Amino acid sequence: MTSTVLQGNFGPVASELTVTELPVTGHIPEQLDGRYLRNGPNPVLPPNPRTYNWFLGSGMVHGVRIRGGRAEWYRNRFVRDGFVASALGEQRPAGPRHAGTDFSANTNVLGHAGRTLALVEGGSLPYELTEELDTVGACDFGGTLRGGYTAHPKIDPRTGELHAVSYYWAAGSTVQYTVVGLDGRVRRTVDIPVGGSPMMHDFSLTENYVVLYDLPVTFDFELAAKAAPKLLRKPVEFLLSQFIGRRPVPGRIAERVNRKGGGALPYAWNPDHPARVGVLPRNGSVADLHWFEVEACYVFHALNAYEQGEELVLDVVRHPQMFATDRLTPNEGGTTLDRWTIDLSAGKLREDRFSEVHQEFPRVDERLLGSRHRYGYTIGSDGGVPGLELNSLCKHDLLTGDTRVHSFGKGHGAGEFVFVPTGAEEDAGVLMGMVYDASEDRSDLVLLDAQTLDTAARIHLPTRVPYGFHGNWMPS
Ligand SMILES: [Fe+2]
Repeated sequence: MTSTVLQGNFGPVASELTVTELPVTGHIPEQLDGRYLRNGPNPVLPPNPRTYNWFLGSGMVHGVRIRGGRAEWYRNRFVRDGFVASALGEQRPAGPRHAGTDFSANTNVLGHAGRTLALVEGGSLPYELTEELDTVGACDFGGTLRGGYTAHPKIDPRTGELHAVSYYWAAGSTVQYTVVGLDGRVRRTVDIPVGGSPMMHDFSLTENYVVLYDLPVTFDFELAAKAAPKLLRKPVEFLLSQFIGRRPVPGRIAERVNRKGGGALPYAWNPDHPARVGVLPRNGSVADLHWFEVEACYVFHALNAYEQGEELVLDVVRHPQMFATDRLTPNEGGTTLDRWTIDLSAGKLREDRFSEVHQEFPRVDERLLGSRHRYGYTIGSDGGVPGLELNSLCKHDLLTGDTRVHSFGKGHGAGEFVFVPTGAEEDAGVLMGMVYDASEDRSDLVLLDAQTLDTAARIHLPTRVPYGFHGNWMPS
């Protein structure tokens, strides 16, 4: 049986293209000057169709350069990690590694301190790309990052600094909070104690706090031990269970597992792991960390978070569970958009449901990251059918409780849309994202007016862009 994430527009494209002066229907706002880049898995060699895990495909970044109302170019490039370089008959670009890891940098792409970074989580380093998406090499922020990195760092709009919470299975009982300054170097590192080695895909940032989602998807000893020869699997599993989530795994053992353990994502639903939200003052120490219980669930993505008096307001996309019945794709039933409110003085967390429509890829106007937002944007499916294929954009008004929907129509599939401001008001701008048209087997970069949700422009790409993960607008 072929994995669903190798079929249709989930399947990879083979060619790397450069096409200039793209045809456009509609009108691209004149003031947009920058690049929209999006990353996603695109296996460079045919994977085993029965065991292919969507999270592990080679990274491919697709980009469109926009200036003066024109779409100047489209490019797509594999991120040259060691495996991709070898498959293409090229030298792996020089650069550091963390603990022998070299995972596909396939999850996000973002600009900071003059760098374009292709990002992945779980212990590996980002890869730096050129403006035109060629791979420069792995990046440890000038030798200042003491560990791996994450796919969801956040730029604080007040300072321009890059905040991140990164997890790594062999790091013992900690995850790591880092702040990269405007000089592109890590200026602050805090190792935060957690237990049981959870997968922490995203976090939230408010004006004064870092918020951690410690939820019951944890490192799976049994699956990881499959990297060992058959006769040694039980003892290896026992050994891993003694170390992981408790003590740092010795470097040589961790490096061996990282090198040999490719092909599986060793994380699974763990009902024994307590679900909780951690709150750490940005400038505090771990002595100031507080935990708040929440009902068992999984959160890949937080929309935004902010402070309101003694409360923290967290808007999150909640999955009822994750990697419980399907280990290869994030596919455990419908999601909801929830608001979790933490009363810091009473030590309580309250859960409210804003929307029951199946949706993912939440984004806000990131000028308001960490501050009170009114609008949130997600991608959903017409009729709310749970699944991986999504075809509508939801604009949530968190103030009035209204949701407006722009459907891309039958036979179309949408990925994450990012908000790009063109005016001062919160929703004055465009929403930008890739939309696949099955009838033409091709994709457009679609720009919607964020206030009306009308289509402002469709930039016609010369190829299809496979469904992937995250992207960002990088102004010039
Ligand atoms: Fe993500």
